[in-house]
Amino acid sequence: MPSAEPADVAHPATYGVAVPHAEFTRRRRAEPVGWVEEPALWRHSAAGRIQQRGTGFWAVTTHDAVVEASRQPEVFSSGQRGAFLNDPRTPADLELMRQLLVNMDDPQHTRIRRVATSVFTPRAIRSLADGVQTHVRDLVAAVRARESFDVVTDLAAELPLLVLSDLLGLPRADRHLLYGWSNNLVGFDDPEYGGGDLDAYRRTFVEAFQYALAVADERRADPRDDLISLLANAEVDGRRLRDREFCQFWLLLVVAGNETTRHLLSGALHLLLHDPAVAQQFATAPAETAVDEFLRVITPIMQFRRTATRDVHLAGADIRAGDKVVLFYVSANRDERVFAEPQRVDLFRRPNPHLSFGIGPHFCLGSHLARMEAAALLSALRPHLPALRPDGEVVRLESNFVNGMKSMPVRWR
Ligand code: HEM
Repeated sequence: MPSAEPADVAHPATYGVAVPHAEFTRRRRAEPVGWVEEPALWRHSAAGRIQQRGTGFWAVTTHDAVVEASRQPEVFSSGQRGAFLNDPRTPADLELMRQLLVNMDDPQHTRIRRVATSVFTPRAIRSLADGVQTHVRDLVAAVRARESFDVVTDLAAELPLLVLSDLLGLPRADRHLLYGWSNNLVGFDDPEYGGGDLDAYRRTFVEAFQYALAVADERRADPRDDLISLLANAEVDGRRLRDREFCQFWLLLVVAGNETTRHLLSGALHLLLHDPAVAQQFATAPAETAVDEFLRVITPIMQFRRTATRDVHLAGADIRAGDKVVLFYVSANRDERVFAEPQRVDLFRRPNPHLSFGIGPHFCLGSHLARMEAAALLSALRPHLPALRPDGEVVRLESNFVNGMKSMPVRWR
C-alpha cells in the first residue's frame, strides 16, 4: 500500500532505501521551490551524543529554477554558508570550509579555479586516455578471472581511484587511503561509514591534510609532471597557495574525483543488470549518449546548497536573505517539461541537457574525465554483461548528497 506520508527529501535514511522520485515529481508540480524542515540527526563524539537539526531549506526541484539560481551566484551564494546541506557548526568551521573551491564566491573563486583549469581541459584529459584504457583492461581481466565479485568495490570504486592516483602522482597503493577518507567524509551520515562520529570526521581531515602536506613538500623540492606538483607550486596573485588552501583543493579533488565517478559506474551497472530494457538498448547505443543518460537518471551528486544574499523571488517562492536554498539536480534531471518520458531510461537520448555536473561558475571541472572513465569501462564490459548476474543484496549508502551504493555482489553465469 502506498505510504500516505510524503518521503522526507532531507533525511539521509530516505536515500538508503531509494531516491524519492515520486516526492520530487509531486514537488515539481505543486511547489517547484518549496520549504523543507530538516530532521534532527544524532551525532556523537568523545563529549557525548547530541542531536543536530538544520535550519530548514527551500528545495528547488525544477530544471528552470535550478538553472536560474545557479546562474546568479551573487544572489545564491556558495561562500556565505558553504555549498553543503549541513550547516557549518562554528565560525571557525565556516572559515575552514571557505578555503574549498566549491564554497567560494567571486573574486576568490575565479582566482583559485584558474589554478586547476589548465589541468582539466579536454586536451589534457585526452592525454590520460591511454592510462585509463590500461586500468580498464586490467580491472576487467581481474574480475573475469574470478567466479564472483563486487561491482562497487572491485570495479566502480577502483577505476576512479587508480586514475586519480595517476593524476595526482601518488603511489597506487595509497589509493585505499583516499577511499577511506572520502567514505568517512561523504558517508558521514551512513551508520557503517562515518556513523555521525564527529571525532572521526575531524581525524579524517587531519590525516588527509598531513598526507597532502608531506607530498607537497616532496614536490616543491622535486617537481614532477603531476597535479600535486602543479598545485604545490602554483602562484595566485604572486604568492603560493597557503597550506590550508592547498590541502582543501587537494581534498576536493580526492573526494570529487572518486566518489562521483564510482556512483555513476555502479548506478549504471545496476541498471544494466536489473533492467532488461536498458541492457537491450546498451547493446547498440553509442557510449556517449549512454553515459549522459546514465548521468541523468542516476545523478551521482543529487544536490548542492546555496544561501540567498538578499530577498528574492524564485519560481513562486519568496526567499528571504540568509535562507538556505538547495538545488536538487536529481529532480531537475527528471523534469517533464524538459525531458520526454523522464522516468524512462533512453540510452539514445539527444539532446540531454541534464544538470548532473551543475551549471554556472561552479560547473564541474572533472566532467570530461568522468565521461571518459565511464565510457571506457562500460564499453569494455559490454561484451561480458550478458554473462553477469546479480548475486545478493545491493546495499545503498545513507546519504542525501550522493546517490550511491556500498556493495553489489555479482557472479558470472
Ligand atoms: C560523475 C562524476 C561527477 C559528477 C556527477 C560531478 C558533479 C559535480 C557538480 C554537480 C559540481 C558543481 C558544484 C556546485 O555547483 O557547487 C562539481 C564541481 C566540481 N567537480 Fe565534479 N563531478 C564529477 C566528477 C569529477 C571529477 C572526476 C573531478 C576531478 C578529478 C571533479 C572535480 C570537481 C571540482 C574541482 C568541482 C568544483 C568546481 C568549482 O567549484 O568551481 N568532479 N562536480
